[in-house]
Amino acid sequence: MIEISDLYKVYPDRRANSSPVEALRGIDLTVKRGEIFGVVGQSGAGKSTLIRCVNLLERPTSGSILVDGQDLAKLSDGGLRAARHGIGMIFQHFNLLASRTVQQNVEFGLEITGVPRAARRTRAAEILDLVGLADRASAFPSQLSGGQKQRVGIARALAGNPKVLLSDEATSSLDPETTDSILELVKDLNVQLGLTVLLITHEMEVVKRICHSAALLEAGRIVESGNIIDLLNTAGSKISHALFPLGESMGAQGNTVIEIMYAGQLAEEPIVAKLSREFGIDVNILGAAVEVVGGTRVGRMRLELPGNADRNSAPITRLRDSGLFVEVLSAGVLCAGSLSAEVREAGA
Ligand SMILES: Nc1ncnc2c1ncn2[C@@H]1O[C@H](COP(=O)(O)OP(=O)(O)O)[C@@H](O)[C@H]1O
Ligand SMILES: [Mg+2]
Repeated sequence: MIEISDLYKVYPDRRANSSPVEALRGIDLTVKRGEIFGVVGQSGAGKSTLIRCVNLLERPTSGSILVDGQDLAKLSDGGLRAARHGIGMIFQHFNLLASRTVQQNVEFGLEITGVPRAARRTRAAEILDLVGLADRASAFPSQLSGGQKQRVGIARALAGNPKVLLSDEATSSLDPETTDSILELVKDLNVQLGLTVLLITHEMEVVKRICHSAALLEAGRIVESGNIIDLLNTAGSKISHALFPLGESMGAQGNTVIEIMYAGQLAEEPIVAKLSREFGIDVNILGAAVEVVGGTRVGRMRLELPGNADRNSAPITRLRDSGLFVEVLSAGVLCAGSLSAEVREAGA
C-alpha cells in the first residue's frame, strides 16, 4: 500500500555557516494493505520527516514513494490535491480550527474539495458517529477534552474516505487512559474500514497495543523492520528488547544467562518448572514480562542456569526443540544467538 524506496531528505542549511541536515538517508519501507505499521525512534531520528514525505507535506530530496501504486511526486498540483484525499493525517496537537465547531472542522476538507453542503453534513454526521462524538457536533474545540479533540482530528482525517491514515505522535500529548481509548478507536477503524495505518511514535506502548509491524529509525536510517512477532524472534532485536524490558539483572559470574521468547500456546506452559525437573537444575528467574501483542499472548523471560554454557547445552537445546526462541547472553553481552556461537563465547 505504501512503498518507500531509497528515500533521502536533506534540509538545506537554515543559517549561514550551518551545514545541511540529512534527515533521511536511504529509507526502504513497505507497509502492506490493511496493516498498522509503527515507526519508532528517538526525537530527531527523522520520524516526522518520513511521515510528512508520504503525503508530500515535505518533498523528498530523492527516492520514490508509492501510495496505492501512485507516485505522488510525479503528480501535477491538481493531481496531488486529489491524491491527498486518499491519505488522512492526524497530529499530536490536533491542529483543529478554534473558530469552527466540531462539525465544521470535520467538513473543512470536504469543503475544499467541493463536496456539496448537504453531502458534507451527512458525511460529517456519519463519521462523528463512528468516532463516538455525535452529540458534540456543535461544540467548539476549546470545549472538548484532549481525547475528544483527537477524535475530531480522526473524523476530519477520515471524512474524505481515505485508504491510508498517517499519524504523527497522535497520542503523545494524551494521558494513558485517553491514549488507550484512542488506540482502540484506531484499531477498530483499521478493521472496520480496512484502513492502512502508518503511525510514528516514541512510545513502545503504542506499538505493543496496536501495531502489526514496526520499524526502528535511528539518525535517518531504518535499523530494524518487520512483523512484531518475527522481531520478537530475532536475536538482538532492539524493538523486541524495548517492548519487553527485563531490567539489568544479569546473574552471577560463571553462570549462563538466557532469554527466551514465547508466543501463543507456549506462553501457557510451565517452562521453568519443566526445565528444573527434567534436568535437575536450579533455574533462577532474572526477569519476565508477558503481554498481549496483536491478540497473541507473548512473553520474554531471562533465566539464569547454573554453570557455563557448555554445561547447559542440553537444556538450551531442549528449549529450542520445543519451539521457544532462545538467546544466550554472556556477562551482559549479547551473543549471536546460535548455540555454537555461545559455546565459542564460553570457551573464549
Ligand atoms: N524544516 C526543517 N528544516 C531543517 N531541519 C529540519 C526541519 N525539520 C526537521 N529538521 C531536522 O531533521 C531531523 C529530523 O527531524 P524530525 O523528522 O522532526 O525528527 P523526529 O520526528 O524523529 O523527532 C532533525 O535533526 C531536525 O532538526
Ligand atoms: Mg516528530
